[in-house]
Amino acid sequence: MEYYNVRIDVSAASPSQYPAEGLPEVAFAGRSNVGKSSLINALINRKNFAKTSSTPGLTRLINFYNVNNMLYLVDLPGYGYAKVSKDEIKKWKNIIDSYLEYDRPQLKLLLHLVDIRHEPTENDILMSKWVKANSHRFKTLVAATKADKIKKAQINEQIKKISNILGISCEDIIAVSADSRLGIEQLRKRIFEVLDI
Ligand code: GTP
Ligand code: MG
Repeated sequence: MEYYNVRIDVSAASPSQYPAEGLPEVAFAGRSNVGKSSLINALINRKNFAKTSSTPGLTRLINFYNVNNMLYLVDLPGYGYAKVSKDEIKKWKNIIDSYLEYDRPQLKLLLHLVDIRHEPTENDILMSKWVKANSHRFKTLVAATKADKIKKAQINEQIKKISNILGISCEDIIAVSADSRLGIEQLRKRIFEVLDI
């Protein structure tokens, strides 16, 4: 298995703190607890480099993970976590929006994560609409996470459901599991294709 040299360069709260050297970026967006940090760890072959937790809302700043000085994996705070104060939600939303709305040519691919077990939530649908409206700025793929938690035979069925609800081609939805590593190589390949590296 390949070894990746990874370091965390920045935990940013605002655009002035984002890395400036122009490496291509792959951002991970999705609701709290959907498995963004776990998927990053699976892609870089590490156990707990990006901190993960069963308590939603762990990632509160934007973490830029520098991989081999070749690209950044950008771990965004999760949206839609209700158990914090309105002020706190607003603060997170500002942090996420400031990255996504910012005119950032380095952002090449936005990975939208949804839980394969459930119908996309209202927030997932909103996110997906926003992503489509911005599809001229970057490529998008959907990662359907926690695929180890359903039977193999159900995977395609769930992907079809997600495809229908979000209005996204099944080919652009990849079932992944950070636990069983299902789909990880496939996703890595798609990322490299998009970045042309
Ligand atoms: P926030 O930082 O709160 O936005 O969450 P996150 O999206 O980064 O989720 P995180 O990676 O921390 O994972 C949340 C929980 O789901 C943890 O308990 C993980 O162990 C679990 N989890 C993540 N991915 C998988 C997976 O593929 N399979 C299974 N079974 N559990 C997973
Ligand atoms: Mg996280």
